Amino acid sequence: MLSAGWLMTRLEDVVPSKYGTIYPLHKSFGLLLLGLVVIQIIIRLRTRLPKSSEILAPWEKHLAKLTHATIYLLLVAVPLMGYAMSSSYSHSDGITLFGLPVAELLPKNDTRFAMFQWLHRTMAYGLLALMALHVAGVVKHRYFDKRPGSDVLRRML
Ligand code: HEM
Ligand code: HEM
Repeated sequence: MLSAGWLMTRLEDVVPSKYGTIYPLHKSFGLLLLGLVVIQIIIRLRTRLPKSSEILAPWEKHLAKLTHATIYLLLVAVPLMGYAMSSSYSHSDGITLFGLPVAELLPKNDTRFAMFQWLHRTMAYGLLALMALHVAGVVKHRYFDKRPGSDVLRRML
């Protein structure tokens, strides 16, 4: 979604597939992802989790928890802002879910559209930054930590 969003906004407007195929697919997969993330969050809230690693320092546990929670938040907020942007744009081509029309519920307003567009973009690249921080944390604990038992990757596998 991130790379498709980045690439599609940089395509020339004359490329026929830009608005005809790629934008609708970006919106469809984005809405599908929103549904999957909501299901994941419900499952996560109903699941008893293993205790967080005893080896990690308190600041590391806090940072990991904060990063995970913010990733979840952005995984919901980014597609919602995408929907809000398309829905409020006065020249919108409409929103479809793999061909099925989706209602555009917000009133048309191009000032609000610009705000939602900014939020969608900024939060999407913020999500990318957090994903990089998240993977850097895993790599640090696996390859650079000398403390035995600090390899958190095993917890995921
Ligand atoms: C997790 C899901 C999503 C991610 C990660 C994502 C990510 C992105 C990114 C990175 C861009 C490019 C921003 C830029 O550089 O200007 C973008 C653009 C866009 N996204 Fe999404 N998106 C998601 C879901 C959605 C959804 C659900 C919709 C609409 C229903 C949507 C509608 C759009 C539109 C219309 C643009 C083009 C904006 C423009 O032309 O300036 N996105 N998205
Ligand atoms: C190479 C890629 C990745 C690796 C090696 C990795 C590894 C991990 C590990 C080891 C944990 C468990 C941490 C713990 O139990 O303390 C975790 C949790 C998590 N990861 Fe990743 N991850 C990767 C990519 C991603 C990406 C791309 C996302 C987001 C789009 C993501 C989102 C999350 C979230 C939200 C959690 C918390 C899960 C929960 O507590 O419900 N991860 N990851």
